[in-house]
Amino acid sequence: MAMIIDGKKISQQIKEELKEKVTAQKAEGKEGALAVIQVGADPASSVYVRNKKNACAFVGIESLAYELPEETPEEELLSLIAELNSNEKVKGILVQLPLPGHINEDKVIQAISPSKDVDGFHPQSVGAMVIGEKGFLPCTPAGIIQLLKRSGIEIAGKNCVVVGRSNIVGKPMALLMLREHATVTITHSRTQNLAGICRQADILIVAMGKPRFIGAEYVKEGAVVIDVGIHRNAENKLCGDVKFEEVEPIASAITPVPGGVGPMTIAMLMDNCVQSIEEG
Ligand code: GUN
Repeated sequence: MAMIIDGKKISQQIKEELKEKVTAQKAEGKEGALAVIQVGADPASSVYVRNKKNACAFVGIESLAYELPEETPEEELLSLIAELNSNEKVKGILVQLPLPGHINEDKVIQAISPSKDVDGFHPQSVGAMVIGEKGFLPCTPAGIIQLLKRSGIEIAGKNCVVVGRSNIVGKPMALLMLREHATVTITHSRTQNLAGICRQADILIVAMGKPRFIGAEYVKEGAVVIDVGIHRNAENKLCGDVKFEEVEPIASAITPVPGGVGPMTIAMLMDNCVQSIEEG
């Protein structure tokens, strides 16, 4: 029987701590707003954006919502970002991804001032993370580190296998685990003998984006399993990249979907916003 890592509870704890910090910051005259930009009306994005606004309200940070139509020209989005970059009150800028096909995501990410890059996606933020300098960390990987630490799971010296190499999760996740002194292997769609490599993992972090792909044959007895995937199945129920009911009896600890990694992303976004307000 595995310990179920309760991301909802841990993220709530973090938000309570941040709420206190925000109150203390306000008493010192430090305040700021998070600008949240959504282009188009993708239903999943709308849910994430709403949750981000609610989290801001909870911790006491003002949020400014920009809901732009799907056909917004790239130039217009870039000039909104330029305006927000020079707006003193705005301490964080978040452009919800994915963007419509006619907009170059890299160009948009690079337009955000690194001092307001609370998503941690700007190349300067990524570079700072790689060499261990101060900067905003990407929210989902940073949230997973918090999940592990706050669940009392030792990272240093452990074999960690990351499945997936996206810029948002897989790559930064591997780097953050390395920073915590794990021995890290990154695997991906071309990896041979994926199950064999995954079975070496003391900590298995799955971010491959394939519903219920990882079964018992991928997991060593007693491993910690972190499931970053989130999908809707045919019955409209949420599921992850891991076959939970099959893996849970083997693992020593596991995150559920929903209620595992998901809520941590937003808690860490709030953490980055508080850090940005602190830095003025
Ligand atoms: N789309 C999926 N995850 C994220 C995220 O963490 N930040 C942004 N901006 N968009 C996303």
